[in-house]
Amino acid sequence: MILERKQRFNVPEIRTRMEQVSAELGTDTFRGAQIVEYAELEQVYSGAMREISTKLENLDDEFQLKNEHNPIHHIECRLKSIGSTIGKLKKRGLPIEIDSIRENLYDIAGIRVICNYVTDVYNVADTLSQQSDIEVIRVKDYIRNPKPNGYRSLHVIYQVPVFLSDGPHPTPVEVQFRTIAMDYWASLEHRLRYKNSIEDNAREQHFETLRECASQLADIENRMQQIHQEIG
Ligand code: GTP
Ligand code: MG
Repeated sequence: MILERKQRFNVPEIRTRMEQVSAELGTDTFRGAQIVEYAELEQVYSGAMREISTKLENLDDEFQLKNEHNPIHHIECRLKSIGSTIGKLKKRGLPIEIDSIRENLYDIAGIRVICNYVTDVYNVADTLSQQSDIEVIRVKDYIRNPKPNGYRSLHVIYQVPVFLSDGPHPTPVEVQFRTIAMDYWASLEHRLRYKNSIEDNAREQHFETLRECASQLADIENRMQQIHQEIG
């Protein structure tokens, strides 16, 4: 049997993606040596994402063994696309340079941790935050303080060392912790936000309904969590 190992970080492929982005955004992207640097950057952020995902899986396994309950329902990972990265630098008026990505953008590596209950969200997030090899860079708690539109989630930016041949590369990863109900709500709200084909009045009405749904969902998951805790 022949196994073909696919190269995960491939400079010619990244160069092609850069050219597409340049055409779409009508802006300068990386060229020459910067393309190689960008590939290296993707590789490090991808490594950081894997470090954090593994930590989360280990915690979930331990919890399952000790408490017969999996706090994590599932985990989603994504690397920000070149288009979104360049688009964000441009929107914020930041230089289109590799160092500018490293210094200013914390969400190149993104992980979404979907938990069953709010208590699971805080248990997992707090336990991860206490690990000695990672650092908490920023916390935004939209569960205790929901956004005016009703959005709820706990956002934590962690910095984790990725060990390469020249030593550790401390790398930020944005982790969004949320419950199934919060995820369900956020997906619909996100779709509505980018739906331009709907008339303004109807859109506003839908956003209003979503605000109400958010607080009802918070109430429902609180009541369900009480049952979950009582039955143990
Ligand atoms: P940006 O990444 O530029 O938005 O800034 P930030 O990282 O300071 O923002 P924040 O931590 O508040 O939110 C980052 C991410 O959370 C977004 O990219 C979305 O994935 C998610 N998010 C934040 N607010 C909302 C919202 O109102 N609705 C939905 N559906 N998702 C949201
Ligand atoms: Mg972001």
